[in-house]
Amino acid sequence: MSDASVNSREFFPGPVLLLGAPGVGKGTQAKLLVDEFRIPQVSTGDLLREHRKNHTPLGMMADELMSKGQLVPDELVNEMVAARLTEPDTKHGYILDGFPRTLNQAEWLDGELATSALPVIAISIAVPERELLERITGRMTCPVCGTIYNVYSEPPAKAGHCDREGAALTRRPDDTEPVFRERMKAFEAKTAAVIEYYRKHGGRFAEVNGNLSVDEVTQSIRGTLLRLRQHGEAERQEK
Ligand code: AP5
Ligand code: MG
Repeated sequence: MSDASVNSREFFPGPVLLLGAPGVGKGTQAKLLVDEFRIPQVSTGDLLREHRKNHTPLGMMADELMSKGQLVPDELVNEMVAARLTEPDTKHGYILDGFPRTLNQAEWLDGELATSALPVIAISIAVPERELLERITGRMTCPVCGTIYNVYSEPPAKAGHCDREGAALTRRPDDTEPVFRERMKAFEAKTAAVIEYYRKHGGRFAEVNGNLSVDEVTQSIRGTLLRLRQHGEAERQEK
């Protein structure tokens, strides 16, 4: 089956993980895959920001850690993800963006997915660290529709305003150089090992080059997803 022959409306991707350092394009790509495959994006960063905005106990607790670029404790994030994955829109799959970020989270997710009809596919987006600072400090987001822009690489048509909504774009408080450095430290200390964990899963892991245009990265992820899911199907049928 070639990529072109696959009708993405009839293709159920199952659970998909987008992994990678801060600013590699997880959120940008997740939103594009959502449009194509009609499965939801589950971004732990976005969920935590929502809690923070609503002043929930979790949001208030996470606020300080997020502003320092540190990770929120595993049990709290796992519980938040567990609740989200019970929602009916996740039935045919979902794109987990920014989760798991520690080995403990990865092992917890394995347990949760032990009985899943489709095994998890992990895609790591790789971008050289020297490219990431501009991506972080240049990022702007639409508070209404969530579209992600970048003043350097993905500018809106009208400076500071969303192309779709016209709303004034906002910046994340953790998108400063010092907090980015801390987030990179957390990535290297905790999340790099998660990528190796999935790499060892063999057939269900792939790394894509994220240092290309947004469209090229989307095509690469899309092709990878179809290939890995077909590979998984073939393995299942052989058993
Ligand atoms: P989170 O919100 O997940 O932040 P992050 O991992 O640092 O990732 P980013 O959202 O910064 O980057 P991205 O990869 O989504 O890039 P994007 O597409 O926006 O987490 C925030 C905090 O929450 C954490 O620090 C932690 O405290 C907490 N947290 C979250 N999850 C947690 C977990 N599981 N456990 C514990 N704590 C957790 O793109 C970036 C920019 O690049 C944009 O401006 C975009 O326009 C541009 N861009 C994208 N693609 C391209 C391209 N191909 N070419 C040029 N520019 C591009
Ligand atoms: Mg993101």
